[in-house]
Amino acid sequence: MNPTTGKMKPIPAGDQQGLVERLMKACGGAYSAETRRKYYITGPQWAAAYEGHALFHAPTRKPVTFEEVIRQYAEIGIGYWCTHDTDVIPADAIGTPRQDEILGRIKQSLQSHGLECSMVTTETFHHAVFAASPAAESPTVREYASSRLRNTVRIGHELGAKFAVYWPGSLGYQVQGAIDEVQVLERYAEGLNAACEEDIKVAKEKGRATLKHCMEAKPFEPAAQILLPSSDAMLALIFSGKLTHPEMVGLNPEYLHELMWGAAPRAALARALMCGKLWHFDINDGYPLKHDVDIGVGLVNPLDWLNVLVLLRSHNYNGPFNLDFKPPRTTSNWGVFSVSFPTAVDRFITMWEMAGEVMEDPVIREAQQALNAGGAVSEGADVVAITEATKELLTLHELIAHRLVQILFGQHRGRTFFDQKS
Ligand code: GLC
Ligand code: MN
Ligand code: MN
Repeated sequence: MNPTTGKMKPIPAGDQQGLVERLMKACGGAYSAETRRKYYITGPQWAAAYEGHALFHAPTRKPVTFEEVIRQYAEIGIGYWCTHDTDVIPADAIGTPRQDEILGRIKQSLQSHGLECSMVTTETFHHAVFAASPAAESPTVREYASSRLRNTVRIGHELGAKFAVYWPGSLGYQVQGAIDEVQVLERYAEGLNAACEEDIKVAKEKGRATLKHCMEAKPFEPAAQILLPSSDAMLALIFSGKLTHPEMVGLNPEYLHELMWGAAPRAALARALMCGKLWHFDINDGYPLKHDVDIGVGLVNPLDWLNVLVLLRSHNYNGPFNLDFKPPRTTSNWGVFSVSFPTAVDRFITMWEMAGEVMEDPVIREAQQALNAGGAVSEGADVVAITEATKELLTLHELIAHRLVQILFGQHRGRTFFDQKS
């Protein structure tokens, strides 16, 4: 610091990575790659390769190959990789011998770094062909969309994936009146049916289990009005009678996509759990009623995230936790792998462990048991007596919330902020 101007001395470009590294160390440790690999944490190709571009944003980072992403994930300890078809195969190479050549290289990369491919997904939103959605009026566009979905199923089996994800993208409209919403939904269902039928065929040929087909909703972006805006809308489609194999289709909710429409993500997850359809989960963070900012898990709503993980642990969710976030534009190519991904994984693991502590916590446990036991009333008690009987007990709701925050702050482990002992 210059004592007269109060200005910091500029940091030479060559010293900056060293500074970030030193401050990362000062954050106080990290999980080992071995520990990280024990969790079913999956890393998308597109998340690590995101260059920081958007409608108002030019890229801030350079392209990254799948070889590089897989190598870096292995080093960090992310045991699983997933991809859109066109993240790795250019649109004009889909279904050609170039696709086979690329898949060969992917398999080799995964194998030499000890990673598995967990999930494949079809990009049905970026290319101009999907301007009117994958369920567009034109039968040739729909046939093309269907061929892409079927091709992705084959890629999934080839790479050993267990899941296929469907985010419908522009299934909706900007201007009103041109489409018949019911017809579009039915046409969308036909695409899913084609994917499931192809899956049954290929799985049989390969002696593999069929994939789990998981639908992912987002309430807005990229169209103004979206026909399947929430996980609940997806459940309605699954149970609509329009799917030939509803038992093969479940959900991939994204935490932020539920928050974006102002929902309680835990309530959305609970409805999916209740229907037996919570199969895959995109983990990230962000703000209610805002755009899809895809911030790293736990950076915005750690308390809610803690509760999400308590819910999932309590209901034995055993599917993947997919790191579908976007490293901020201010993070460098180097920072993506040395700060973004390792810290996201470590926050997740820490919150997972804290969720375990919540479930074991004697204060919370006793409070919940007492609430479930209810208040004592004599037989034939009237409404006043029933109300009075739990009056003091219900204060425990707030006490439990306080205790959860204490656990988040580490107070249950002896971190104190009080000036007197009780
Ligand atoms: C897009 C979406 C992302 C989704 C993925 C899978 O990248 O932005 O949320 O999970 O597609 O299809
Ligand atoms: Mn997602
Ligand atoms: Mn998102």
